[in-house]
Amino acid sequence: MTLRLSVIGTGYLGATHAACMAELGFEVIGVDVDPDKVEILRGGHVPFYEPGLDEVLERNIAAGRLTFTTSIAEAAAFADIHFICVGTPQLAGAQRADLSQVMGSIQALAPHLRPGALLVGKSTVPVGTAQLIDEQLKATAAPEVEVAWNPEFLREGFAVEDTLRPDRLVVGVRSEQAEQRLREVYAPLLAIGTPFLVTDFATAELVKVAANSFLATKISFINAMAEVCEAAGADVTQLAQAIGYDPRIGNRFLAAGLGFGGGCLPKDIRAFMARAGELGAEEALTFLREVDQINLRRRSHVVDLARAALGGGFTDKAVTVLGAAFKPNSDDVRDSPALDVAVAMSNAGAQVRVHDPKALVNAAKVYPNLRYEQEVLTALDGADLIVHGTEWDEYRQLDPSAVAAVVRGRHIIDGRNILNADAWRNAGFVYRALGRPNA
Ligand code: UDX
Repeated sequence: MTLRLSVIGTGYLGATHAACMAELGFEVIGVDVDPDKVEILRGGHVPFYEPGLDEVLERNIAAGRLTFTTSIAEAAAFADIHFICVGTPQLAGAQRADLSQVMGSIQALAPHLRPGALLVGKSTVPVGTAQLIDEQLKATAAPEVEVAWNPEFLREGFAVEDTLRPDRLVVGVRSEQAEQRLREVYAPLLAIGTPFLVTDFATAELVKVAANSFLATKISFINAMAEVCEAAGADVTQLAQAIGYDPRIGNRFLAAGLGFGGGCLPKDIRAFMARAGELGAEEALTFLREVDQINLRRRSHVVDLARAALGGGFTDKAVTVLGAAFKPNSDDVRDSPALDVAVAMSNAGAQVRVHDPKALVNAAKVYPNLRYEQEVLTALDGADLIVHGTEWDEYRQLDPSAVAAVVRGRHIIDGRNILNADAWRNAGFVYRALGRPNA
């Protein structure tokens, strides 16, 4: 009989997991408390931008393997394995994670679970959460309900690829049976050679935040080098290329620029520090405070460069920010470095216009007072300064002479170090990049 799975939460993690598990051949029900989201998903549409996900979703709905509901009782009756994929954002006014969606969904699910059901956590949680849930379910759920923790490592923009061809699968379990059931779920991925690591709860939970902390540290490391390069008159992109040839270092995640944002890296390192503090291991992670600070400093540095380029002040100056999403191929604006810079310059008195190929609707929800433009050349028309904040291909392909013809002042700050400096200079621009004072 085909395995039946439920996926609780239909954000980018849940929607991707539900669609991809159906793609692997399982019968899947996706659950969300938001009826509007469920309606959109039922219609075969993804309520956010994720390349390739619509096709997988549509195909599996049409095949009858994927349905959506707002009823957690229906999900409990339908499936024996439940994936918890709800969000764990940063708690307002604090550094730690807000677990209300995780705990709320488990509380709602518990009374309906069938005996022997397996609850698999995929959300990023503070270490110790799985144990807490296990205790809670022992007190409130049917007998033999089990918990497992199976962190998700997918990147936005590559969510389908990362789910169907992951680098590794990590499962934190407390019984042979839970391990076997997860081996059954992931059999198609094991068949293509995906490494499968079986751990205890705490290790599985930690793997996720450790991985994201490492990635954040790598980016902040190269951005710290960018600061030194700026002081010493060196070029951080050449430095990154040169150190990246050492396979122990590797060349990925060494792109210096405006730094990291998004719904994971920033809040995960903060929640990790907060949790380590609770556990009495605060000192072990104090370096992450530096990682966070270096990252945020890049944003204020770009604002300083912009002010200098404009002759010392923003008042009545027209600035166009290229990019609102926290990274290309995403419409996610959570903790977006580009938007942060746009807001800071606007607060300082600049007339800011923002362009993004996909993220303007989301940006306008968070910052309704900025001006948004759908067409890049319209956004650039009359600008005194351009700030390149998110490295969409569209910006790489801009023709500097076409841009020169519409702007008022020829100043560009490349916050992502990927534009062709010579081409922009040849078109008459003063080109500035991060960590490359002489570029
Ligand atoms: C990240 C992790 O990569 C993923 O494994 C985890 O599951 C969720 O968090 P994501 O937030 O989608 O994924 O974005 P990622 O591709 O990691 O980029 C994070 C940020 O770092 C972006 O703002 C990106 O612009 C920035 N970045 C990335 C750099 O500034 N330099 C780099 O070299 C790489």
